[in-house]
Amino acid sequence: MAFKTALKTALVVALSAPVFADPLLTKISTKPEDIHGKAFDYVIVGGGAAGLVLANRLSEDSNRTVAVIEAGNDGEAVMERILVPALTYLNGVAVPNSEYDWGYWGSSMGRWYHQPRAKVLGGSTAVNALYVVRASKEEHDAWASLLPNADQDWSWNGLFPYMLKTENFKPPTDASLTGTIVDQSYHGHDGPLHVSYPEYTYQSAAVWTPTLANLGLKTTDPQGGQGWGGFITPNSIDPRDGTRSYAKTAYLDPVANRPNLVVLLQSQATKITFDTTGSVPRATGVDFAQTTGGTIYHVDAASEVIVSGGVFGTPQLLQLSGIGPKPLLDSFGIPTIVDLPGVGEHFQDHVLVSMTWTATNNTVTGDLLVQNATFAAEQLKLFHDGQLSQSLMSAPNNGIGYVSLKQLFNNDTFTAEFIQQMRDNMTAVINNQGFTDDTLRAGYELTYSTEVNELANTDVGAIELLLSSFGSWNGVNRTIAMQAAIQHPMSRGSVKINGTNPFQAPIIAANYLNTDSDWAILRAGVRYLRRVAATEPLASLIVEEVRPGPQAQTDQQIDAFLYEAASTQYHPASTSSMLPLEKGGVVDPSLRVYNTLGLRVIDSSVIPIGMCAHLMAPTYAIAEKGAAMIKANSVPNRMPHSELGAGNVRATISGSLVFLVSLLALAISGML
Ligand SMILES: Cc1cc2nc3c(=O)[nH]c(=O)nc-3n(C[C@H](O)[C@H](O)[C@H](O)COP(=O)(O)OP(=O)(O)OC[C@H]3O[C@@H](n4cnc5c(N)ncnc54)[C@H](O)[C@@H]3O)c2cc1C
Ligand SMILES: *[C@@H]1O[C@H](CO)[C@@H](O)[C@H](O)[C@H]1NC(C)=O
Ligand SMILES: *[C@@H]1O[C@H](CO)[C@@H](O)[C@H](O)[C@H]1NC(C)=O
Ligand SMILES: *[C@@H]1O[C@H](CO)[C@@H](O)[C@H](O)[C@H]1NC(C)=O
Ligand SMILES: *[C@@H]1O[C@H](CO)[C@@H](O)[C@H](O)[C@H]1NC(C)=O
Ligand SMILES: *[C@@H]1O[C@H](CO)[C@@H](O)[C@H](O)[C@H]1NC(C)=O
Ligand SMILES: *[C@@H]1O[C@H](CO)[C@@H](O)[C@H](O)[C@H]1NC(C)=O
Ligand SMILES: *[C@@H]1O[C@H](CO)[C@@H](O)[C@H](O)[C@H]1NC(C)=O
Repeated sequence: MAFKTALKTALVVALSAPVFADPLLTKISTKPEDIHGKAFDYVIVGGGAAGLVLANRLSEDSNRTVAVIEAGNDGEAVMERILVPALTYLNGVAVPNSEYDWGYWGSSMGRWYHQPRAKVLGGSTAVNALYVVRASKEEHDAWASLLPNADQDWSWNGLFPYMLKTENFKPPTDASLTGTIVDQSYHGHDGPLHVSYPEYTYQSAAVWTPTLANLGLKTTDPQGGQGWGGFITPNSIDPRDGTRSYAKTAYLDPVANRPNLVVLLQSQATKITFDTTGSVPRATGVDFAQTTGGTIYHVDAASEVIVSGGVFGTPQLLQLSGIGPKPLLDSFGIPTIVDLPGVGEHFQDHVLVSMTWTATNNTVTGDLLVQNATFAAEQLKLFHDGQLSQSLMSAPNNGIGYVSLKQLFNNDTFTAEFIQQMRDNMTAVINNQGFTDDTLRAGYELTYSTEVNELANTDVGAIELLLSSFGSWNGVNRTIAMQAAIQHPMSRGSVKINGTNPFQAPIIAANYLNTDSDWAILRAGVRYLRRVAATEPLASLIVEEVRPGPQAQTDQQIDAFLYEAASTQYHPASTSSMLPLEKGGVVDPSLRVYNTLGLRVIDSSVIPIGMCAHLMAPTYAIAEKGAAMIKANSVPNRMPHSELGAGNVRATISGSLVFLVSLLALAISGML
């Protein structure tokens, strides 16, 4: 029986010879026929941060064909708003009711929050705030510790080479202006993504690191694994013309003419198809459609389907395809292919609150661009003329700081008591989540206790501080804003389909501030920001606090402000967590979906724990690592994940015979 199944699988594989070098293929296309009914070695769902890294790296092998399916269009019609850094903050496209945004809403505390996610080639890297921020060594090492005996190294040392691989770094023109420290050994210099510093520097940015230093937050180059203290971060900016460098310009445009790569736009993957005749379901391809209720097309994946749809799109597609919690799938009559309770669970996000101060009359602030259209037009012209150091348009936000729990509370006795309470409260917090599945409980326990240990025993941030030049609020002019954001939230949410229609948004339970400790930490963040505003040299630029205003002092008053104002820092993660299967995991350390063949998830949804980072930089690195794994071992994913030892089997297009023989050998030895 097992033998027959294996034989059949092998024949299917051997017979589905991929198209390649088809001269009729349009490289970046909107025509379903360009991939419909054809087979590609790799079918990638989502042309975002991770998806385009994979498209680039996997198509480096000219013997391998790659198709990318992206729901959005190419963004050409809004390219100026994508490319000019300040326009992201003033006139960005990731807003509700934009055709470039998925228009997701998440719920917490009985309220609804817009959850921006780009629907455009390049994904959220086309619309994000351009911060390039890596996590710390301790955090990546904590991630690795969740996966005992993993055959892949997810520690800092295992990922750092891929962080370097993404990057083409240029130090600031004048580092002394902002007190920025650069260690070139922490940076890559020939990667596709441009990483640099804006040529224009706001006064508030110039005084940022000295101000935080006066509070004891020292500055270093944070990109080498010690990401705590105060910094000016680099941005994803191409220093040659000051424009955004993003997944499309960095990873796709330079290779878009490869004959073995096709990118299909305006097409949404609606289902992953499986061959369920074997003992382990094998992904065979992807169904997709261009409109709700429209024609369903299909593309075959000869080797693998790679899902890179992001933190909402990925669990949604898996669930629609029968990979997810059986009770949820049953409730919509979706046949369960693999009962995987973790799909869509473990959701976590950095919850942020923004405060606003008025600045002194001679302080230049970004909101001047909003108040004065003539000024804004002048500034845009300067930008296009290459006068980058004269133009506010060239400068995104870049002042940040990571404050440890100890620094945040500024009282060691209190901090120790707080940590103890977090530990004591864990069971109650987990009970409050209402999981009926034991693996989900176990996973929550593991990530919760791991993160509490990080907060207790390392210098990693409990709170991130952010300096914003675009803080205008309630019509008040000439403002400086600062934000505080929780970096290791203890609250968890979920993403679940709300029906069988792929064009219907999933239900996002964000569950922000769902624990006492999250409230206490963000509340302390508000108080810490007030200390920053009162510290020189920044204090000299500030007149008074206008949001929430000095009347909000007691815990209750600050909580009322948090209830009204706290929202997402745009860093949701973990909805397809890389955790052991018995801890509610969705992917194994090789990014393969458990109990499937030929299916990986590679994007920000696999990140299993909170980290002091903005998630673009880690996501690029995860995708670089994933691509390297796939290339190092051409087809191991046709093996059940329990057979990792079989990983050396190679099956290139010309090597299918070897592969077939190997499969037969495995079948004979009873492994399949
Ligand atoms: C407003 C905003 C600001 C941010 N600011 C920063 C920042 O300054 N710095 C930082 O580091 N990070 C920032 N982030 C986060 C960062 O951009 C994301 O973490 C990162 O892009 C995630 O990469 P991804 O590959 O997982 O998903 P994405 O980059 O979002 O890509 C997913 C892609 O998949 C497509 N897709 C989804 N489902 C389907 C489907 N079924 N069929 C076809 N296509 C599909 C989507 O259209 C999208 O193109 C920000 C995010 C937002 C939204
Ligand atoms: C592609 O396959 C051919 C035939 O097997 C082989 O000669 C060639 O070296 C391969 N090219 C690459 C880039 O692997
Ligand atoms: C700033 O300008 C406003 C309006 O011109 C004026 O009323 C105010 O007194 C000025 N403030 C300071 C501190 O100079
Ligand atoms: C608006 O900007 C223009 C051009 O810089 C400037 O001349 C004008 O004084 C500004 N208007 C106001 C009200 O500040
Ligand atoms: C520090 O915290 C302890 C324990 O909560 C508290 O008793 C003490 O008053 C605090 N010290 C200060 C200076 O606030
Ligand atoms: C802010 O500036 C705009 C444009 O100059 C002006 O119309 C508005 O009244 C100002 N707001 C306040 C609160 O002064
Ligand atoms: C889920 O679907 C129902 C029925 O279509 C709809 O009324 C509801 O608003 C949806 N929920 C969310 C959160 O989108
Ligand atoms: C722990 O739980 C108690 C009781 O619910 C609560 O009062 C306290 O604030 C919690 N502390 C932390 C740090 O979670």
